[in-house]
Amino acid sequence: MTADAPALPGSYAAVHAASLADPERFWGEAAGAIDWVEGPGRAFDAEAGVYGRWFPEARLNACHNLVDRHVAAGRGGQAAIIHDSPATGTKRQITYAALQDEVATLAAVLAGLGVARGDRVILYMPMVPEALFGMLACARLGAIHSVVFGGFAANELATRIADAAPKVVLAASCGIEPSRTVAYKPLLDAAIAACPHKPDACLILQRPQAPAEMVEGRDIDWSAAVARAREAGRRAGCVPVAATDPLYILYTSGTTGKPKGVVRDTGGYLVALAWSMENLYGVRPGEVYFCASDIGWVVGHSYIVYAPLLIGCTTVLYEGKPVGTPDAGALWRVAAEHGAACLFTAPTALRAIKKEDPSSALARGYDLSGLRSLFLAGERADPDSVAWAERVLERPVVDHWWQTETGWAIAGNPLGLGLLPVKHGSACVPMPGYDVRVLDEGGRPVPPDTMGTIAIRLPLPPGCLPTLWGSDERMRASYLATFPGHYDTSDAGVIDADGYVTVLGRTDDIINVAGHRLSTGGMEAVLAAHPDVAECAVIGIRDALKGEQPCGFVVLKSGVERAPDEIERELVALVRERIGPVAAFKLALTVKRLPKTRSGKILRATMKRIADAEPWTMPATIDDAGVLDEIGESLKERGISG
Ligand code: COA
Ligand code: AMP
Repeated sequence: MTADAPALPGSYAAVHAASLADPERFWGEAAGAIDWVEGPGRAFDAEAGVYGRWFPEARLNACHNLVDRHVAAGRGGQAAIIHDSPATGTKRQITYAALQDEVATLAAVLAGLGVARGDRVILYMPMVPEALFGMLACARLGAIHSVVFGGFAANELATRIADAAPKVVLAASCGIEPSRTVAYKPLLDAAIAACPHKPDACLILQRPQAPAEMVEGRDIDWSAAVARAREAGRRAGCVPVAATDPLYILYTSGTTGKPKGVVRDTGGYLVALAWSMENLYGVRPGEVYFCASDIGWVVGHSYIVYAPLLIGCTTVLYEGKPVGTPDAGALWRVAAEHGAACLFTAPTALRAIKKEDPSSALARGYDLSGLRSLFLAGERADPDSVAWAERVLERPVVDHWWQTETGWAIAGNPLGLGLLPVKHGSACVPMPGYDVRVLDEGGRPVPPDTMGTIAIRLPLPPGCLPTLWGSDERMRASYLATFPGHYDTSDAGVIDADGYVTVLGRTDDIINVAGHRLSTGGMEAVLAAHPDVAECAVIGIRDALKGEQPCGFVVLKSGVERAPDEIERELVALVRERIGPVAAFKLALTVKRLPKTRSGKILRATMKRIADAEPWTMPATIDDAGVLDEIGESLKERGISG
């Protein structure tokens, strides 16, 4: 199959069955969508890596596949990137030919700074084209990029710099939020100061909204360096790498404060993404794809950057919000103006739009005739919002489920193979290569419609993480140890008799705030570090807009005489300072005691049920039953249901 060939024939059921019956053959055929320097050869080696490796004999370059081959095939004049930025009031188109020039030149700058195959480069950047140039320039050199979301604080950035040990950092001077300009450079400086590893250089993109002070001997002006390289005619070529070489590391919340460095390999990822574009999203080369996420998240990596460019689409890079930039018609405006065939966003964005424009008057003002589908991911798509979007758009609205770890959808409704009946609340059916099971605590499969932990029988399909950065052991312990022979998704849910998967929530301490994955353990560590706090518990409580919002309960040390509300304000500020505004931590409640079992385990699940006004029963193992009533009372005092 070439990039311009039609979708794989056959119904979903036949395709999924074929992928499980003979994975090597299935993915070997799908590999025809990629340009290889060598291979692809054998599709899978079960003996390699932690659970096997995809395309162990092949060599390729990702940047060649995303950029150069399209220019060579005559797409040079087509827009590769449309940057639509209500944040700055600008719009910019970059053709594939211009993208090739930008990326080859920036790669030459990076090579001049000593960046080579296998080196790490951290990006701390907003939604600007230069961020994509940076990611692709790394891929061109065989270097490994790691993008850190701009809403994270210096401390989180420092943790990632320490773990990835980058040779170079690419950063912009600022990001632009509707309410304020966020100066990134002081955060970067603080992160580097706090970190034992020091990068050799930082390439800084100066933005006029908040130019940065440069650090002599370390910081380099991005535009000037690129201009010098261009003047000197310096351009870097594509370096062939092993298909199993890491393309990027993306850090995501684990249950501890230490984030997990999810490794994405090169060959398998591109094969899976190419399959998904035509068969899951039903999008063809040359069309416009609009994913309104952020490059700091996995959705942004896969469907703002890699997948659309891989098959020769135009990708829309949107530097704005679903509401407030300027109004709740923003996503419809962008989709209409640029002729997007597919729109991909998070349910929280849809809820925000619905809240501001319930009658969808704004949507009716735009010509959305070119839009064929709306895809949702990042959190469970609530049936009300899906039904609302179906009424507004009168076209398929597809919920699909995935994780940073998997890199692409585990389950979804494969539009390109023919839309399956939609069941609101369900993420539909497993994608090829995913043998999805629901297991009980003992690892036994449960009957249809019975809740359990969702696991995937090994091997995971191409695109999924082969390991965690620098730690095969953590990979095994985090994902493979609970249910031998399976990957533990840490999501709970059910599969019905038709094979539809419904994801109901996490089985661990991860919460999902506005589609952002956050660790309550990480927040607890920050609260516990406050000198007046004796102990604490953070839970995610239901929020009509963001799905969940974090709520911290703290018990103060005996003898602390300061006013609790003053300490609570400090705690809110501390989480913002240590983790970042993205944590959206606004609620700290002082309580006398925390509810615990006799063995000392904090009853977080029961606290959550109380906060969410769900029926709950008094746990038999509770140490002191009165504590739960106190928790309910303090929630009520704050206007939370209790
Ligand atoms: N850089 C710096 N700060 C950022 C940021 C960035 N890239 N992104 C978000 N923030 C800040 C916000 O300004 C906000 O700060 P505040 O506390 O000062 O208001 C805070 O982080 C929380 O942001 P967010 O959770 O995004 O809430 P919001 O109030 O800005 O917007 C929605 C609400 C629903 C419109 C918004 O959450 C949204 O559209 N989310 C989409 C989620 C998404 O795409 N997820 C990706 C998974 S697919
Ligand atoms: P992240 O790694 O940030 O993409 O977050 C992954 C987690 O988000 C998953 O483990 C789920 O808990 C949740 N999630 C993502 N998409 C969905 C979905 N469509 N339905 C339900 N939960 C989802």
